[in-house]
Amino acid sequence: MRCATRSAEETERLGAAVGRLLEQGDVVLLIGPLGAGKTTFVRGLARGLGFEGDVTSPTFTLSHVYRGRVPLVHADLWRLERMAEIEQLALDEEVEEGSSALVIEWGEAAEPIFGGRALTVEIESGESPDLRTFSFRPSGEWEGRSTALAGAAAAGAEDGTGPARKEGAAAAEDGTGPAAEEGTGPTDEGGGGQG
Ligand SMILES: Nc1ncnc2c1ncn2[C@@H]1O[C@H](COP(=O)(O)OP(=O)(O)OP(=O)(O)O)[C@@H](O)[C@H]1O
Ligand SMILES: [Mg+2]
Repeated sequence: MRCATRSAEETERLGAAVGRLLEQGDVVLLIGPLGAGKTTFVRGLARGLGFEGDVTSPTFTLSHVYRGRVPLVHADLWRLERMAEIEQLALDEEVEEGSSALVIEWGEAAEPIFGGRALTVEIESGESPDLRTFSFRPSGEWEGRSTALAGAAAAGAEDGTGPARKEGAAAAEDGTGPAAEEGTGPTDEGGGGQG
């Protein structure tokens, strides 16, 4: 399943449409080169879960967690080289007990661990500077949700300025949800004290 976006805003909207589908225990692996839009897509996922705070890649810790409808654990494997660190993610308490969703940038490195149950999203650049194409590869539990995913892809990638938003349920309600809870900043998790 493929779709395209033409701006960071569109990528965030696409992410938000997918974020509305996220359930506890879900894993999303993001693949794409530097500056592809991986973090932008994660920001959308968090927005789709109703989280309004900062969304940035964790640098000094293994992961951030955004507390929306479902907690979203955000990891970025750019700096993680050792398999042990990647495995540590699977041992993250919330991930292990399946009470959160997990999204991983540079997720190809985590495919041996999560590939069999993940939604893999590959982002590629297009001919024009702001064009990105998104390929969604569902496995495991995600395979049964391809209709919902296709709806999210269609809703997220349309330009959203016209009445077309009525057609896709997933496109509705942008930015009109309940106000964010207090303390909406990301929470650091794991990785502390590692030398
Ligand atoms: N269609 C698009 N989707 C997403 N980002 C876009 C798009 N067009 C242009 N951009 C720009 O590309 C950049 C994407 O940055 P982002 O941090 O999301 O990428 P990334 O894949 O996470 O990078 P990194 O590999 O450094 O983690 C932003 O500056 C954004 O404004
Ligand atoms: Mg990034």
